Parts: sequence; C-alpha cells; structure tokens
Amino acid sequence: MRVNPVGRLARWLRGPSTAQAPSPQSPGARGIERRLVAEPWYVDRVSISGSRLAAEGWSMAVPGAIEPAEGWFTVNGRRFDSLRYPLPRADVGDVFWMREGAAMCGFEATIDDLAQPYPEGVLEIRRVVPDTPFVERGRDSWFKPDPALHAGLPDEARRLRVIGNADAEGFLISGATDYHRIDRALLAVAGRHLADFDRVLDWGVGCGRVARHFPAARAQALTGCDIDADNVAWCAAQLRGRFVHCAIDPPLPFPDASFDALYGISVFTHLQEPMQMRWLEELARVAAGGAIVAVTVHGRTAIDFSRQPPAEHRRLVEEVRRHGIVFNGTNSQLDGHADHHGEYVNVLHGADYVRRVWSRWFDILHILPGYILHHDLVMMRRR
Ligand SMILES: C[S@@+](CC[C@H](N)C(=O)[O-])C[C@H]1O[C@@H](n2cnc3c(N)ncnc32)[C@H](O)[C@@H]1O
Repeated sequence: MRVNPVGRLARWLRGPSTAQAPSPQSPGARGIERRLVAEPWYVDRVSISGSRLAAEGWSMAVPGAIEPAEGWFTVNGRRFDSLRYPLPRADVGDVFWMREGAAMCGFEATIDDLAQPYPEGVLEIRRVVPDTPFVERGRDSWFKPDPALHAGLPDEARRLRVIGNADAEGFLISGATDYHRIDRALLAVAGRHLADFDRVLDWGVGCGRVARHFPAARAQALTGCDIDADNVAWCAAQLRGRFVHCAIDPPLPFPDASFDALYGISVFTHLQEPMQMRWLEELARVAAGGAIVAVTVHGRTAIDFSRQPPAEHRRLVEEVRRHGIVFNGTNSQLDGHADHHGEYVNVLHGADYVRRVWSRWFDILHILPGYILHHDLVMMRRR
C-alpha cells in the first residue's frame, strides 16, 4: 500500500514507477473521461497558527457547478473565510490525464477564528458534494488528528513497510482518515460506530496506523493481528488493545465467531488468489453471524492513480474487466520482516469479480470506490 503523504502529494503520485505520465494532448492520450468512478481529492497541507488555519489541496472541479451554500469546503462544519478554487495543479493533471480538466483542481483556504481546531481530538476538512450517496459520504472528509495526542509514532522503517512512505504527518492523517471513513461507512450500514462493537478485529494491523485511532476508552474491544511479529510487538508495547502475531496462512488463533466487526486495510491487495480464498473462509469462521467485514481492494481507482501511460492504463482496465482478478507484480516491502513464501504480491480486483466470488462467504453490501485512499472498500455481512 502506498499512502499519499499529505504535503508531498506530487512526489507520492510520482512514486517509484518509471512510467511517464503523458500530457493529455499527447498522441497516445485517448480515453479521456468527464468524471472518474470516485472523484479523488486530497488535503496536501494544513497549518495552524493561533486560531488561524490555512489549508491547501485539490479536488476535481465540475465546470459550471453552482457553489453550495456552505461553500465548496468546510472545516469542522464551518465555511472557510477565504477560498481560492479552482487553481491550476499541473502535477495532479499529469497523474489524472484521463480525467477532463484535472489540472484545474487546486484550492487554498483560510479561516481566522478557529478557537478549537481538534474537537474530540480530530480536525475534519470536508468537500461539499451534495449528491454523494449517504454510505459513501466518508470519502468527502479528511481528518487530521491532534498531534499532541500522538507523540509516540513508530519509526520510519516500520511506517515505510506498511504504507510505502515514511512521512510522519501522512501516517497520522491517513490513519485518522481511514479510521473515520470506515466508522462512517459502518454507521451507514449498521447504525453503529466502530467503537460501539464489542469485538473488533484489525486484520493486518501493521504498526497500528489505523488502530491507534480507536478510542482508548474502548481499547478492550480491539484486537489487532499481523504476520509481521516486530510490528505486532511494537503495537503491544505502545498502543492500547490486544495485539497478536499470526501466520500468512490461516488459521487465526481465535475461536469461531470471535468478532462482530472486522476490517483489513490493504491485505487482500497483496495476496495471491488461492490464498485469498483461504482467508475469506477464515474471516467467515472468526466472524460472528451478522458481523460486518470491511476490507480494501485495488480496483479502478488504484489504476487511475498508478500513473500509467494510456496504453498500459487501458491494458490494466481491460485485464481486470476480463479476468476479474489480476496479478500486478511482486512486492518486497515485507522481505526480511515476515515469512510470506512469495505470497505477498500486488493484486487488482474488479468489483464484479468481488461480488460474484466473495458472495460465497459473505453478503456483499457495498463496494465503495476510492474510499480508503486509492483503495475500494468492500463492505460485507457474515450470514
Ligand atoms: C500494506 S500493509 C497495511 C497495514 C495496515 N493495515 C495499514 O493500513 O496501515 C499490509 C499488512 O498486512 C499484513 N499481512 C499480510 N498478510 C497477512 C495475513 N495473511 N494475515 C495478517 N496480516 C497480513 C502485512 O504484514 C502488513 O502489515
């Protein structure tokens, strides 16, 4: 998984790939679309000085759209005092060459009297898209946690191997954003917050990027597990909750029906298909009847983010359409840290495939495109 380090978007979007993003005018640049399946946006930078907050980022603009009453963006539910939008962002346009007008999407906003930036420990910046379906609304918010509550972060090496980037600010913002987006999706489908469930499993907890945002007062409800013993030990020493080492192959060291809510961010994105089948079976075993299971996959949004030139972009989209699941290269991020026998790779999923194949174990409630960074979130219920 590669996470956008907020504030260093362009570098992250360039990533390690050697592929060159073409300009939209280049001869090979066909397949331009008016809207992407999940219109991406990012908050690149938030700076707070006294009660003044300044934010910068980008969000795909819809030409001719009428500004909502509360403005295009809000901070903790309030309108910004000043907003410049849309502004040129050639770096974003280079990545999303397939989206018409993507290079004109920047915003810069300020608010002057934000006395309490972190109510309940977190600041929320929202883009206002009135027609976002209720279950997908979490995608329209980014969350920045109060840094004063997060002094002890895992070191760079630990952060690097779970999110492909060592940026500390990005680690905190992406973790809080993923936590609260999952929480909102759960509220939409189950009417309860994540921390209201009594038995929650973070499958593939890594170094607790998301788990650290679980409320401390409810820590007895949280279990995290991972094949990376060193990261599990770090979580057990530094975070509240129960953290358990597990193997790349099932079973998990938990009895049947142990959990009411389970989430796994960027785990199915990295397992070969036969191993995925075994893990779906195993997650179904440890999930109680009616449990909600939320896991991410790399789908169309991940391809859009991958900076491929048009021919390769088209090829990947077509491969996924045709095969449903596509092996997309090896992954060495865990080498030397977890015993994975070459099972830890990169995989793309099509939504139709997930609905068809995974419904053997779960009711597929929703597949929320581009909901967790560039991942799709599959919301399922154990029968
Ligand atoms: C890309 S990282 C994401 C970590 C964490 N979920 C996050 O979002 O920060 C994938 C994690 O899944 C773990 N993992 C891979 N296969 C696993 C398995 N079969 N069971 C549990 N964890 C696994 C890896 O060790 C790694 O920590």
